Amino acid sequence: MLVGAGCVVDHLQTDVAPPREEVLARIEGAAGVVTMMSDRVDDPFLSAAGDTLRVVANFAVGYDNIDLAACSRRSVRATNTPGVLTEATADIAWALIMATARRVIEGDRKVREGRWQGWYPTELLGVELHGATLGIVGAGRIGTATARRALGFGMHILYTHPRANPELEQEQRAQRVPLDELIEAADIVSLHVPYRPENRHLIDAARLARMKPGALLINTARGPIIDERALLAALQSDRLRAGLDVYEHEPQLTPGLTELPNVVLLPHLGSGTVATRQRMSEMVANNILAVLRDEPPPHPIS
Ligand code: GLV
Repeated sequence: MLVGAGCVVDHLQTDVAPPREEVLARIEGAAGVVTMMSDRVDDPFLSAAGDTLRVVANFAVGYDNIDLAACSRRSVRATNTPGVLTEATADIAWALIMATARRVIEGDRKVREGRWQGWYPTELLGVELHGATLGIVGAGRIGTATARRALGFGMHILYTHPRANPELEQEQRAQRVPLDELIEAADIVSLHVPYRPENRHLIDAARLARMKPGALLINTARGPIIDERALLAALQSDRLRAGLDVYEHEPQLTPGLTELPNVVLLPHLGSGTVATRQRMSEMVANNILAVLRDEPPPHPIS
């Protein structure tokens, strides 16, 4: 491991996040901590590490799990892994779009469970992507990469973003519109905004009700952006279909969601390719080593 070159490394040998008390006990006296998005980096976390702590390196691009003000108060640097997971995450958004639009999982189950009795014209009919309107909510790096993939499908692109995205507008004749206009016009709404308190339940019952009947909602960003209970109700009434990689209370899902055929559920796989996770690991190590050498970290967030 790269950090091993200059540091003593205490590596938690587990794939499942250990209980918080165990993490807090283990980080006491650390100079740097590698955190997952499931680790809440707040005052108790920083106190548990103590005055030795100089850097928290998040193994993720999103950093809604980190209280940046608390880090700054203690002069602890925080870093993330931007850029390297853009394409992998856009691929997962498309995996969900395709699987949801064309009912791939339902079809696979039907064949596997021996329920397929042969071809008929109205079997598992889906949504045609060619000519459909894709609404990109948040046209940053991942939103733009997701929109770019729509070119081959001959789709119309609408997007929301605080600023115009000239690349999307020129390459794809994408149109920037207010969120509610996008919600009402899109056949597929794909979420790519970072999670901030003001984005909690950005997609609430009222917005779900404004979506076109039969439209798809895709979330590869952060779970709390959608009111998951309201989504459950919309899915139960069969008005919409959804493809989710993230959940409001990960890894718990709103009870009832797993019973529904019209939602595709992935276990937060956005950045999960060998190449991307390798690059993320290197970035995390370089961020930590830079701070410990009194150099500016390559990817600071505070
Ligand atoms: C994954 O969700 C990330 O933020 O990297």
